[in-house]
This record gives sequence, structure tokens and C-alpha cells, in this order.
Amino acid sequence: MSQVEYQFACLATDVPEDGAKNVNLDGKEITIFHTPSRFIARSGVCKHNAFKLEMCERTGDTIRCPLHGWTYKVSTGKGIKPSYTQLESYPIAMRGEEIWVQPEAENSGDDDFDTSGFDW
Ligand code: FES
Repeated sequence: MSQVEYQFACLATDVPEDGAKNVNLDGKEITIFHTPSRFIARSGVCKHNAFKLEMCERTGDTIRCPLHGWTYKVSTGKGIKPSYTQLESYPIAMRGEEIWVQPEAENSGDDDFDTSGFDW
């Protein structure tokens, strides 16, 4: 397994409190979420149809994609609706006010996009 280097993503001040910011590292869209306790790096796009997650509606630990209503927990990346989906997680490190991210996911976040049973 290759060692992927951390890359500079953005400044902490670039991500509003309780907000999010998308960055592109090595061609991967990654969302940095600012939570009350820490910054979290997740897949930058909705698993349904690639809407940028920085533009999702956020209520506490939940984000909701405005296009078709898929929802996720920020803290775990786990899908709520539908529950089988999972956002990728990326290692994150703070260097002073700088946010650095490894653009290789800790988990694949792969799912089979089986939308049966999902109420559109
Ligand atoms: S693109 Fe996000 S729910 Fe459809």
C-alpha cells in the first residue's frame, strides 16, 4: 500500500462555522466540514448524482442534498436516506490554521447504487 502524502486543502478560516467548503485534491472533490469540535473531510459530492456537498442543507450533524433529498451524517459519513450509502472519509491534519488532507479515502464509500425501495 502506497503512502499518500497530506496536501494543503485550505485555511481554517476558509470554512465557515457549521459550514463546508469543497476542495479538489488530485482530481478528487472533497468536502471539508466545520463542526463544533473539529474539521472533517468527506467525499465532496452526493453519492446519488454528484451534487457538491458544500451546497447541501445542514442541520447539526445532518446534511441533506437539495436535489433529491439524500441525507447523511457528517460525523460518520453514513447515509440516513438511503441508509445503505456511505460517504468516503479522508484523513485530516491541522498545521496551525492550515487544513491538510490525504486524498486517499480511508474507506471506499462504494455502494451499489441500488435505489429500489427509495421513495423519490
Ligand atoms: S444528487 Fe443528491 S440526492 Fe440526487
